[in-house]
Amino acid sequence: MGDVRHLYVHLPFCAHRCGYCDFVTVVGRREQHGGYVDALLAELDLERAVLVDALETVFLGGGTPTFTEPTELSRLLDRLPPAEELTVEANPETITPEVARLLSAGGVNRVSLGAQSFQPSLLAVLERRASPDDVRRAVYLLRDAGFDNISLDLVYGIPGQSSSDLARDLAEALALEPEHLSCYELEAKPGTRFTHAYGDELEHQAEAMEGYFEQVVDTLAAAGYRWYETANFCRDAAPADPRDLRAHHNLAYWRGQDYLGIGVGAVSTVQGMRRRNAAGLARYRASLQCGERPPAEIEIIDRETRAREQLMLGLRLDEPLAVSGLHGALDRDALDRMVERGLVELDSNGDSAEISLTRHGRFLGGGVTAELLDVASA
Ligand SMILES: C[S@@+](CC[C@H](N)C(=O)[O-])C[C@H]1O[C@@H](n2cnc3c(N)ncnc32)[C@H](O)[C@@H]1O
Ligand code: SF4
Repeated sequence: MGDVRHLYVHLPFCAHRCGYCDFVTVVGRREQHGGYVDALLAELDLERAVLVDALETVFLGGGTPTFTEPTELSRLLDRLPPAEELTVEANPETITPEVARLLSAGGVNRVSLGAQSFQPSLLAVLERRASPDDVRRAVYLLRDAGFDNISLDLVYGIPGQSSSDLARDLAEALALEPEHLSCYELEAKPGTRFTHAYGDELEHQAEAMEGYFEQVVDTLAAAGYRWYETANFCRDAAPADPRDLRAHHNLAYWRGQDYLGIGVGAVSTVQGMRRRNAAGLARYRASLQCGERPPAEIEIIDRETRAREQLMLGLRLDEPLAVSGLHGALDRDALDRMVERGLVELDSNGDSAEISLTRHGRFLGGGVTAELLDVASA
């Protein structure tokens, strides 16, 4: 038995491709879903030795995991190792009473629903299939099936979106009382047809992004959500519901813990080695049919790289980061400057010194982290 406590499973199939997306996705191909699940299970068997018996988290991401043929999704869920948190990403239009029950029967206890926006015109820009009513219906159906941990994804900075549009989106999302919200700046990935189509408007939105970010944080904090990671918010523990509603799978990434990723394009980091499975579906399936690992890129994560990643990811959280783990990645002079400018808080306690970003520092985020990184260690 190994010691990896987190498993990511990639399900790449989607009903169609949204213009802004550059995840590893495959449109349609229902006839291949069964073969793909066979390949996933074969890869899991090959890698299983690195996992502990009972996992802390499993995350089924996509693509659209809930677009997978129901019998195949069910078969996959039945074969996954037990986990305390089992999250499935879902697109609202795929949630029917049957799918909600299937997820619940398969042990899923957290659903992350891609709402993105509640305004038809903005959803059209994003080329989303789900209407605002589909999002609301999906939440009600999941509640009816017993789900008490639902996360909603929103994006902001959509071409044509104004600050009052964003206020409406946040209000609509809050009205559904999700346990968790992820709010992402829309990233225009170079080379996508989306970036090509909306270049000028995206530049205009980039200038407004800082203001939108503050609006998101202020609105969600005022509604009682904890801003626990740059883009992630959860309902605070309360006497009536003392659960820690942070996304524990993602927390493992941000804290630099090891994880196994299976599936086409999936990434693993285990004992200082990062493995990135290639993106091609046919090659992925063919290798596993022969009992071989799929083609992958391997990267060795040495001590310095690990420390740099720890600095970049750990400071996204609202919890302090131990300086002792940063082994030379931290520029001490820059740290002093950032402390002086009120962007970083340093709790110096001898060997157990810790740093965290102040509220102002968190809004500047990556800019502060870039300053703190010791360029000599790069
Ligand atoms: C793996 S993706 C997609 C999950 C699901 N298929 C969906 O479309 O809702 C997970 C989340 O990443 C976010 N995302 C995807 N593309 C993005 C982009 N270009 N910029 C910012 N966020 C993005 C969306 O909020 C999305 O819900
Ligand atoms: S449904 Fe989700 S994963 Fe699929 S193309 Fe759209 S954004 Fe990407």
